[in-house]
Amino acid sequence: MDGVGIDQLKQEIARLKRERDAVILAHNYQLPEVQDVADFIGDSLALSQKAASTDARVIVFCGVHFMAETASIICPDKRVLIPDLEAGCSLASTITVEQLRAWKNEHPDAVTVCYINTSADVKAECDYCCTSSNAVKVVKSIPEDRPVLFLPDMFLGAYVAEVTKRKNIYIWPGECHVHAGIRPSLVLEMLKTYRDAEFLIHPECGCTTSMVYYFGNGNGNGNGCVVNGNGHDNGISCNVKFLSTEGMMRYAKQSSAKRLIVATEVGILYRMKKENPDKEFIPISSDAVCKYMKLITLEKVYRSLRDMVYEVKVPEDVAVKARRAIERMLAIT
Ligand code: 13P
Ligand code: SF4
Repeated sequence: MDGVGIDQLKQEIARLKRERDAVILAHNYQLPEVQDVADFIGDSLALSQKAASTDARVIVFCGVHFMAETASIICPDKRVLIPDLEAGCSLASTITVEQLRAWKNEHPDAVTVCYINTSADVKAECDYCCTSSNAVKVVKSIPEDRPVLFLPDMFLGAYVAEVTKRKNIYIWPGECHVHAGIRPSLVLEMLKTYRDAEFLIHPECGCTTSMVYYFGNGNGNGNGCVVNGNGHDNGISCNVKFLSTEGMMRYAKQSSAKRLIVATEVGILYRMKKENPDKEFIPISSDAVCKYMKLITLEKVYRSLRDMVYEVKVPEDVAVKARRAIERMLAIT
């Protein structure tokens, strides 16, 4: 389809989608034109739930590889396609299954909780899966006397430990290259500049723990990981919320604030602006770009449907074990 305009490409995608009995699921960080052709846009949790409930025969997953794997684990009878196999995740790559097994051997009594940003092999070795919107709830559901191994994001892990006040939580030192760069100094600078704004912060950010310390009272309700608070001991008064990407979308809609600062990957701003034209959204950093998410282009979505590529299939023995961890999470949320 070289030289074909965007509108024609969109029409071809719609035609192929009907022909293949396919549904297009897109993460909130996807390119605007990819979001435009999606049947459903959401965060990791919402996308897994959507995959679980769709009647379509084929799922074209516009997101990164672990997300497509999750869909394949949940829906073994469906054909799950990812438009580019190189769409990985720097955070998911921080832990291998061998490293996890060695860590578990050091803590034989521990309950393992893995963030959804992990490979299927790693999920298969864990007791629970979680996403940024339910990590607090999942950890709170584990008996107090059981140690918890939380992996692989150290900022989300520290956030969960702070909110739950749990002392027996061991955290894997992984990070996402996009969110780790959102440091406390950057947020404090923006807080001083935009005193009337509300701040929406993804718990994967490098600023999370200090921001909870500055502004949080640690009373996250586990439903969207919300911690509200007013600044203390630093002369700054503001409204800070810690939310998953879909939590941010929901919050942006109901907020009475006219200006919101968004601390996560910049792709989310397209949908936020589209759904809330009367509000101003400012990215905390225009450098917060996930190169893996951006590998999925409209052209590749078209090719994916045309050639039915690239299929993501998790071996059954791994899928059975990984499904257990995901289903335990879905049962809690
Ligand atoms: P969400 O589940 O909040 O969408 O986050 C996924 C992710 O990869 C964040 O970088
Ligand atoms: Fe992974 Fe970070 Fe990209 Fe999210 S933003 S998919 S955590 S690399």
